[in-house]
Amino acid sequence: MVAAGKTTGEGWSSRSAFILAAVGAAVGLGNIWRFPTLAGESGGGAFVIFYIGCVFLLGLPLVLSEIFIGRVGQTDAVGSIRKVAQDSKASHRWSIFGGIGAVAAFLIVSFYSVVAGWVLYYAGVMGWDFLQAIMAGDPFRGALAGENEAQIQQRLGDMFASPGLLLAMHLVFMGLTLYIVARGVSSGIEKAATYLMPAFFVLLFGLVIYGAIEGDIAEAAAFLFTPDWSKLTPQVMNSALGQALFSLSLGVAGLITYGSYIKEKSNLGGTAAIIAVADTSVALLAGLMIFPIVFAVGLDPAAGPTLVFQTLPFAFQTMPGGALFGFLFFVLILVAAVTSSISLLEVPTAWGIGELGWSRAKSALVFGVGALLIGVLCLLGYNVLADVRPLGFWSLFENTDILDTIDGFTGKVMLPLGALLTSIFIGWKADANLLRTTTGLSPLAFGVWRFLIAWLCPIAVTIILVTGLFPSIL
Ligand code: PFF
Repeated sequence: MVAAGKTTGEGWSSRSAFILAAVGAAVGLGNIWRFPTLAGESGGGAFVIFYIGCVFLLGLPLVLSEIFIGRVGQTDAVGSIRKVAQDSKASHRWSIFGGIGAVAAFLIVSFYSVVAGWVLYYAGVMGWDFLQAIMAGDPFRGALAGENEAQIQQRLGDMFASPGLLLAMHLVFMGLTLYIVARGVSSGIEKAATYLMPAFFVLLFGLVIYGAIEGDIAEAAAFLFTPDWSKLTPQVMNSALGQALFSLSLGVAGLITYGSYIKEKSNLGGTAAIIAVADTSVALLAGLMIFPIVFAVGLDPAAGPTLVFQTLPFAFQTMPGGALFGFLFFVLILVAAVTSSISLLEVPTAWGIGELGWSRAKSALVFGVGALLIGVLCLLGYNVLADVRPLGFWSLFENTDILDTIDGFTGKVMLPLGALLTSIFIGWKADANLLRTTTGLSPLAFGVWRFLIAWLCPIAVTIILVTGLFPSIL
């Protein structure tokens, strides 16, 4: 039997510190950029309701499972799974899914930082514009005064065409992520979460109120919550399931890693529920912030990934206070992205510490620089390497550039695979007594959890995996 990984010995200073950090990990680009994009593209209500079902029936049991593994293991994901396997008399080979998770997290952070870099650039543009508005004595004017719609939209294309600009933004963002992770759990990750998450919520509520006052919140609410079930196609269900996993940070061992820093005995079921509720509320609030603004100006909610970068800046132009709130909007996304990217980099970093015996600084540096370099390939895929199709031989990725290929491969293959193995491991292999005593669930809650994790999760996640890989069978 392989020896369990050595414990990293680090820990959260309190239960609320863990909750803040875990909510920070869950709330990210997935909530504010991807969720409204998907909801808009998929026709709103039916997608949203199905998504909420996925979060609570599949996501929540998996969140609890990952935290449980970390809490028992007290070390990196691979070592933690090995420890649970040992205590449950199961094969240590199960720890392989911790490895898959660490690789997935490493790949995701590489392109996540590139996308966050776009947000950083837009925050800079809007911040500069707001500064000019102040200097002109008109701080409450609309954003980007003097630019027409074509010019505002052109900014995105110009940014993609400039490798230097993309690289600079990616470097700054990855540098910040690396710095926080290298500082460690309590003085890096926890500190960042305790400052950034309250700021995030203040910004979010401010922007939702702004959208309600200046925008068309009634139309937005109708769009988000009135289901048209004919729109719930198998593709839409598939993307809702995949989005639920991504948004809750599942399948990449992120919550195993964060869970391993819980020291005292704590109510894991309640903690998991808080994470799922908070993450979903933020996604819905992001929809209730973005769509009133989009509808107020009569724009298209189904704009796709450019919704945030082209549709919204134009909308902010025509709205009073648009310069200020447009700037705050991009700051909000940036804050959400930082607390998620650190959780992603932490997974391979903890693995380097626990399994390879590296120091935290060395491990963070090796994986941070590695992800930085892969990110550089992703951003070159928008210009110099625009014709490169890394998995072009596979029909699923025939026409996808470097970034979309890594995003698609991790999202469609690695993440569901990680989630599937987690559910089988917890549902069928882990020792029931260990599960019961560690989670502290009531008998009823425990029964429901075991049922969902042993039956519903493996079946539903297998469906996501298979239909994601072979879309033609839908
Ligand atoms: N949940 C994050 C988001 O919604 O943006 C993305 C993510 C972060 C996925 C951390 C996985 C992870 F471990």
